[in-house]
Amino acid sequence: MKTRMLCDIEVSEVGMGCMAFSHGYGSIPDERYSVEAIRGAYEAGCTFFDTAEVYGPNLARSQRGHNERIVGKALADVRDNVVIATKLFLDAGIGSPYKRIRKHLEASMDRLQTDFVDLYYLHRMASTPVEDVAEAMGRLIDEGLIGGWGLSQVGVDTISRAQAVTPLSAVQNIYSMVERDVEDEVIPYCAEHRIGLVAFSPVASGLLSGRVRSTAQFERVDDVRTWVPQLSERNLAANRPLVEMLEDFAATKGCTPAQLSLAWMLAKWDNVVPIPGSKNKGRILENLGSAEVELTAEELDKLENALDGITIYGHRGFTR
Ligand SMILES: NC(=O)c1ccc[n+]([C@@H]2O[C@H](COP(=O)([O-])OP(=O)(O)OC[C@H]3O[C@@H](n4cnc5c(N)ncnc54)[C@H](OP(=O)(O)O)[C@@H]3O)[C@@H](O)[C@H]2O)c1
Repeated sequence: MKTRMLCDIEVSEVGMGCMAFSHGYGSIPDERYSVEAIRGAYEAGCTFFDTAEVYGPNLARSQRGHNERIVGKALADVRDNVVIATKLFLDAGIGSPYKRIRKHLEASMDRLQTDFVDLYYLHRMASTPVEDVAEAMGRLIDEGLIGGWGLSQVGVDTISRAQAVTPLSAVQNIYSMVERDVEDEVIPYCAEHRIGLVAFSPVASGLLSGRVRSTAQFERVDDVRTWVPQLSERNLAANRPLVEMLEDFAATKGCTPAQLSLAWMLAKWDNVVPIPGSKNKGRILENLGSAEVELTAEELDKLENALDGITIYGHRGFTR
């Protein structure tokens, strides 16, 4: 698969979000299936894997690291060939931000079976000033413990304050055809500063695949789809014109709607890398296949015009 740069970190242009093997989309597969699915993605050309310390069943503190352990196990044999990104939550605590962050990092490295994390994100801004986090991340880079660092769900004000202390490799924000806030300022700022925009929930939690027809398909336990705004029963119906447009367009390209939605952001921006998530081996490969779907400038224009003409119902947005 072709690659893209997140500052100096080279990754496959479509990555893989591993969260659903532990949290967020209902029941989780058994560990063997999850490990095989991740290896399957690697064998299909994916070299960029996204996890977080908190991804565990129901985000329970006692289950912290569940997802990192699976990712670590799946990639241990091919560690040198892949980029592993993980994230930490920084609670207010005793000690310097550096010491607190390093403690989280060491625990993550242990679970990931590695002595180096390629890309380390702060999962959400909290009480610690971003400048202090940036300074600590800079020390970890200098010590060779991480390759680069990033922030998640942030706006340009926070990004630029961080960037002034320790340049970022990536910003991970929500981005899809139905969540386009980042197009106004964040992506252009990132492009100008060689920062990658890693797009999470790029298939809009399944909406853009066209395969979500009713909330009855969702699971009731640990399933974000029960509150994702575009996926309420009423908004699923209201968003049908978007899905139908994608289905028709995808048919002309010989691809699936999910692939088209990912190919769209790849065609639009050089610094965007989507990390679709799925707990299904077939759909993981389908999503990675979006890297093969090339859109001409004319097709991209046509798609943009069609999108501009459709009202989207439901919005998650991001924290500025
Ligand atoms: N930084 C953050 O705060 C943050 C927040 C959320 C997620 N993330 C990261 O971003 C990754 C991706 O986010 P996400 O999982 O919400 O992305 P997503 O791919 O937009 O949504 C995943 C959902 O869509 C379905 N889906 C995906 N591809 C499909 C396809 N081709 N056909 C039919 N259904 C499809 C999946 O169902 P199946 O599993 O049944 O295929 C699953 O229910 C996560 O794994 C995680 O690593 C980060």
